[in-house]
Amino acid sequence: MEKSRIIEICQKYLPTFKNAIKNIKYELKGITNSEMLLFISLVHYFRVKLIIESGRANGLSTKIIAENFKPPDFEFYSIENNKYSPDVKKSYEKLKNYRNIKLLFGDSNKLIPKLITEECCILIDGPKDDAAITLALECLKKPLVKAVFIHDLHKDSPHRKWVEKIFSNHFFTDDIDYIEKFKSLDKRVWIELRKYREYRAWKPYKRNKKKMKSYSATLSAIMNSNNCYDQKIYEEYLECLKNKKRAWKIKSLFENWPLRIKNIIQFPSFYIYYEKVIDRKVQLNFFNFLIEWAKRILSQILSIIVFRYYC
Ligand SMILES: C[S@@+](CC[C@H](N)C(=O)[O-])C[C@H]1O[C@@H](n2cnc3c(N)ncnc32)[C@H](O)[C@@H]1O
Repeated sequence: MEKSRIIEICQKYLPTFKNAIKNIKYELKGITNSEMLLFISLVHYFRVKLIIESGRANGLSTKIIAENFKPPDFEFYSIENNKYSPDVKKSYEKLKNYRNIKLLFGDSNKLIPKLITEECCILIDGPKDDAAITLALECLKKPLVKAVFIHDLHKDSPHRKWVEKIFSNHFFTDDIDYIEKFKSLDKRVWIELRKYREYRAWKPYKRNKKKMKSYSATLSAIMNSNNCYDQKIYEEYLECLKNKKRAWKIKSLFENWPLRIKNIIQFPSFYIYYEKVIDRKVQLNFFNFLIEWAKRILSQILSIIVFRYYC
C-alpha cells in the first residue's frame, strides 16, 4: 500500500481516534498515541472483526483498542505471558468495565494460531525482536491475517533492517511525513515520561544522551499479500540467528566471572545465578556444580567443532 494512502486513512480516522483516547492517560511501557493511530486506522480500513494483541502488560494499548472498537461488532483477544507480573492487577483494574475483551494468559506463539478463525489484524508488542519477527511471519502465512503490527522497530534496532529485507508492503510510524502530521498526539506522552527518573531525558529522536534515528520506539505495519515475505532472505536470517546464538553461548562462558566467583565463595551450596549456565536458578552441591560446568564446557567445545567443520 502506498505511503500517501496510509496517511490518508489515518487522517480519516483521526477524529474518532482522538475522541476515543481523550480520557486515557499515557503510562510507562505503553505504545504511543501516534503509533496506536496507525493500528486503529488500518483495523478500520481492513474491516476486520477480530483483533488479537500479544503483550498486554499494564493494558494501555489494550484499553485504547477497546475504546475504539465497541461490542458487539468486534471480538478482541489480548494475550499476556507473565501471569505473576504486578502489571496483571493494574490491567484488570483498567479493563474491568470493557466487555469486548478476552484477557488470556499464555505464550502467543501457541495461542495465536488457534485464535485466527476469521479475518483479523494482529498487534505484537511482546515477544520482541527476533521472536516478534518469527511470530509475525507465522501469522502472515495465514491469508485470514490482513496485517501484522510489530512494536519497537526503530531505525537503530538491528531487527528493523531484517524486517525491511524479509517483508514487503510495510510501513513504519517513524516516517517523516507521518510524524509531521500526527506527532501532536504524543504531547502528553513525552510530558508523562518526564515523571520517571530513567525516562526523563526521553524525547523525540532522543533516548537520554543517545541521539535516535527514529522519532519514537516505532510501530511497523506489515500488510499481508501473496508475496509479502521473501523465503530465501528469511532462511538467511534464521541462519544468522543460529550463529548469533552460538557466538553468544561462547561469549557467556567468559562473562561475569567476578559475580560467579563471588557466588561460589558466598554460598556454600553454590547458587548459580547466571541463568545461562543452567536454565533456571537452582541450588547445587559442589559436585553437581562441577558436573554442570563440565557438561557446559564440553557442549560448547563440541558445538565449536561442529560449527567449524560441518557448517
Ligand atoms: C512492552 S509490554 C506491552 C505493553 C502494552 N502493549 C502497552 O502498550 O501498554 C510487553 C509485554 O509482552 C509480554 N510478552 C512477552 N513475550 C510474550 C509472549 N510470547 N506471549 C505473550 N506475551 C508476551 C511481556 O510479559 C510484557 O508484559
